[in-house]
This record gives sequence, C-alpha cells and structure tokens, in this order.
Amino acid sequence: MLRTLGIETSCDETAVAILDRDGRVEVNLLSSQIAAHAPFGGVVPELASREHLKALPILVKRAVELAEGPIELVAVTAGPGLVGALLVGVRFAAAFAWGSSLPLVAVDHLEGHLVSPFLDLGGGRARAEPERVLALVASGGHSSWYLLENGTRRRLGQTRDDAAGESFDKVAQVLDVGYPGGPALDALARRGDATAVALPRPRLKDAPLDFSFSGLKSAAIRWIREQGLAGSGDIGQTAVVDFAASFEAAVVGQLLGPLDELAAKHVPQLVSAAGGVSANTLLRERLAAWGNDRGVEILLPVRALTTDNAAMIAHAGRSGIVTGTAMIRGGSMPGRERPGSRPACGHR
Ligand code: KG4
Ligand code: ZN
Repeated sequence: MLRTLGIETSCDETAVAILDRDGRVEVNLLSSQIAAHAPFGGVVPELASREHLKALPILVKRAVELAEGPIELVAVTAGPGLVGALLVGVRFAAAFAWGSSLPLVAVDHLEGHLVSPFLDLGGGRARAEPERVLALVASGGHSSWYLLENGTRRRLGQTRDDAAGESFDKVAQVLDVGYPGGPALDALARRGDATAVALPRPRLKDAPLDFSFSGLKSAAIRWIREQGLAGSGDIGQTAVVDFAASFEAAVVGQLLGPLDELAAKHVPQLVSAAGGVSANTLLRERLAAWGNDRGVEILLPVRALTTDNAAMIAHAGRSGIVTGTAMIRGGSMPGRERPGSRPACGHR
C-alpha cells in the first residue's frame, strides 16, 4: 500500500496524519476546537470552518516535515459532516495533491471510524480486518451497528432519532456540567450509583435492532428540571453523580441492546466499537465482559483514536484504493462513487 497523508475537517477537530506503507502511524496531529465552541455549548459551523482554515496549513506543513518518506497518496474526509468545514479540507487536500502530483482519495468519515480499531499508535502495523466483524459506531452524530464482511459494509441497526453522543452532550448542557458532555458525564458516573434514577429504555417492537434515545433524553431532562438541577453545574452533589451514572447505564444499555441477537445471527470473529462514545468507560467494560463470557474478541480503538482523527481517514483511504471502494481523483486507480450522505456534523 501507499504512504498516505490523511486530512480530517468534518466537524470540530482539524486533524492530519501520515501512515506508512504497512499502516504504521508515522504522524498523528490534531488541533481541537473544543475551547472555541465551548462557550456556545455546541459546534458553531462557521466558526469550525474558520478554525480549520487557520490550523490546516500549519498541521500539513508540520506533518510533511515529520514524514519518514515520500507521501504517495492524499486521503481526505469528503462527508458526512459540516459542509463548510468539509470544503476547507477537501479543497486544501485537492490543491496539495495537485501541487504534488499525487492521487487524491475521498473518504467517508464513517468508514474512517469503522477502521479505527485496527490501528496502533505504539508504532505497530495496522491489523488486517478479519472476515466477519460486528462493529458499533457511536459518536456525536451517529449510532449504528454494522456487519463488516470480506471488505463489504452492511448497516444492521441504527438509532431512530438522536445519536448517543448527542444525548450525552445535550443532557450535560442542561445540567451545566461541561462540554463535550460525554467525557464530563463519564467522569461523574464513576462516582455515582447507576440504579438510583429509573430512566426509560424503550425497545422498538417493529425494529428490534434499532434503538432510540429521544425518549430517554426527554425523561432525563424532565428529571433534571423536576429536581431543580438544571444549570446547577453542581458536580459535588450525590443526586448529580447518581443521575450521571444512571443516564450512562441507560445509554449504554440502548447501544448494546441488539448485540446478543446480532451475534447469534452473524457469528462474528470480532466485535468492535468506535467513535467518540467508544471512549466511554462503562461501554468498554460492558463490551469486555460480554466478549469474555462469549469467548469473542473485542477490539476497541486506542482512546486517542476514538474521537475524530486523521489516522483513521488515511487508513480508510489507503485500504479503499486496494479494495476499489475509494473515489479517486488525479490518479489512474479504479474508483467507485461514494454513497450519498447527509450534510451535518451530526452525521447520522
Ligand atoms: O467521533 P466524535 O469525535 O465526533 C463525531 O464524529 O461526532 O464523537 C464525539 C462525541 C461527543 O458527543 C462526545 O460527548 C462523545 O463523543 N464522547 C463520549 C466520551 N468521550 C467522547 N461519550 C461518552 N463517554 C465518553 N467518555
Ligand atoms: Zn466522527
């Protein structure tokens, strides 16, 4: 495979990485915009684009300096994501590839998350994907189970409404305990009693492999308001930490609800999880325990690769041109149209 420069600007992280021919992560740079968006309690699209414009040229220059050999391919996230933010990355990548006479490959952001568990940040090669993998992607905008089989991807079940990360973010915002909400609630939950607050965990009768977070989110917000905890930001209160633990358990319960049925049906060699929410402590523990009980290997990305990063984009790009699933510009390699995607940071 080719030494690949990856560029990711779909949401609120400007990221640039280089993977060598064996998929070793040579360079992995990230400029987080969390501080810029934090005062607004969520991502402000125009601000995101402007921050990408500032950071991207600096990161690419630095990455090229750190590369251990000549770059042979440029891979860039082409969607889904914020349109303006994506445009910054795609146009920059196109100009860089053109100026360096390199092929350019467009990568689906979700494909990036799907391949992220196979990467090592300790200097090891990228691991090959086994024949059949059950893969959960749970992020700020997306919550779905996939079957990865012999290089193909099939979505098996998904959220009907909000994404898991979005639910964490919204509830944390109402409580005023920090942004982004996932890591904030995760930290609080470690001190709380998950059985303290009863929250609904609806299963959809007509679609048992799908899940829903909107009822849970509304019930959680109602409970916060009823208890007079809205905007309190009081992370020392027992009620707040107990609530955080109960809410986390309910979200994780929703995400893992379809796992038994999916595993029985598809008999995977491996179960993986990726996306920002795969950093969640309880989700990691529950998956590890599940794998232990069933004798199925669980593979999670290293924490630094759970949230958006460019190493996963470079890996998806370099693998895609081998399987022929990538969309190529500027090179002579075969390409295929990327399926349509919705323009939103919350890439559902
Ligand atoms: O994958 P990601 O960086 O961005 C998207 O592609 O959306 O995921 C960000 C999401 C945020 O909603 C954040 O609150 C959530 O991942 N997240 C977590 C944790 N760390 C990040 N959710 C629960 N527990 C965590 N430890
Ligand atoms: Zn993402």
